[in-house]
Amino acid sequence: MVNDYFKHKHLLGIRDLTKSDIEVCLETAKGFKDVLKRDIKKVPALRGKTVINLFFEPSTRTKTSFEIAEKRLSMDVLNFSVPSSSVVKGESLLDTIKTIEAYGVDFVVIRHSSSGVPHLVAKNINASVINAGDGINEHPTQALLDAFTILENKGTIEGLTIAIVGDIYHSRVAKSNIYLLSKFKNKIRLIGPPTLIPKFSNLNLEIFTDFDRGIKDVDVVMMLRIQLERQGKGFFPSIQEYFKYWGLDQRRLLLAKNDVIVMHPGPMNRGIEINSDVADSDKSVILNQVTNGLAVRMAIMYLLSGY
Ligand code: CP
Repeated sequence: MVNDYFKHKHLLGIRDLTKSDIEVCLETAKGFKDVLKRDIKKVPALRGKTVINLFFEPSTRTKTSFEIAEKRLSMDVLNFSVPSSSVVKGESLLDTIKTIEAYGVDFVVIRHSSSGVPHLVAKNINASVINAGDGINEHPTQALLDAFTILENKGTIEGLTIAIVGDIYHSRVAKSNIYLLSKFKNKIRLIGPPTLIPKFSNLNLEIFTDFDRGIKDVDVVMMLRIQLERQGKGFFPSIQEYFKYWGLDQRRLLLAKNDVIVMHPGPMNRGIEINSDVADSDKSVILNQVTNGLAVRMAIMYLLSGY
């Protein structure tokens, strides 16, 4: 494995990466995926390095995936528990970060409800910072593992027609995927209620509010969670209406290509944006996405360590 071509100290967003950076990540992840198939899945690549996982927002997949990936790379891992930390006594984010820096950590993995927090942390610490999701801005490791999953299933991440469906406005996953997939000459269709589709300047995106039209002949359909925790009222009439117009079921999936794959970053709201008959079908690669998160996150930390 080489990291001569990846010259970044931090992973803050997909927008900062070139097409070549993304290709290097995916190729490196492929190597780590092979490692994860061995009996002994642990490698000494980052032995002696220390990482702290700072999750200010809930997470199942990203947090567990990072922790396993870090341990597979032989790192020393600290999990910062916000509810039992001095954050609840009013300690500021920067004082918390400076305290962590005093231990000489090498990596900070951070998720926060405010967009831009990982960028602020990166400016104030010597460690490499990895954005594990910031507000409604970006979730770069999710987009990389999604690209890896598309590559595994379609043999390419170029020349595809990809539908991204649902609450695009509040979705950092959608933003990172749009930035990544746009670098590879794909046809990207954004589908959802008009109130949940933001404007993207300088990107060639097709907009559909009619799901039946938008899903026609797509290679990939990427469903998004309705982020009720980030929404006020009034983005769409009701949950029942939402599923009727923008939910994915078997009938709608038949309008896509025969070999379509169905993706969802999780957690899913079954019966709201996706039906179980699709989520658990042989078209679904949702659990493959989870599995691939390990290899991709190992690859990212390995590549950043070479800066
Ligand atoms: N995909 C994703 O970010 O899931 P979690 O919120 O469970 O980490």
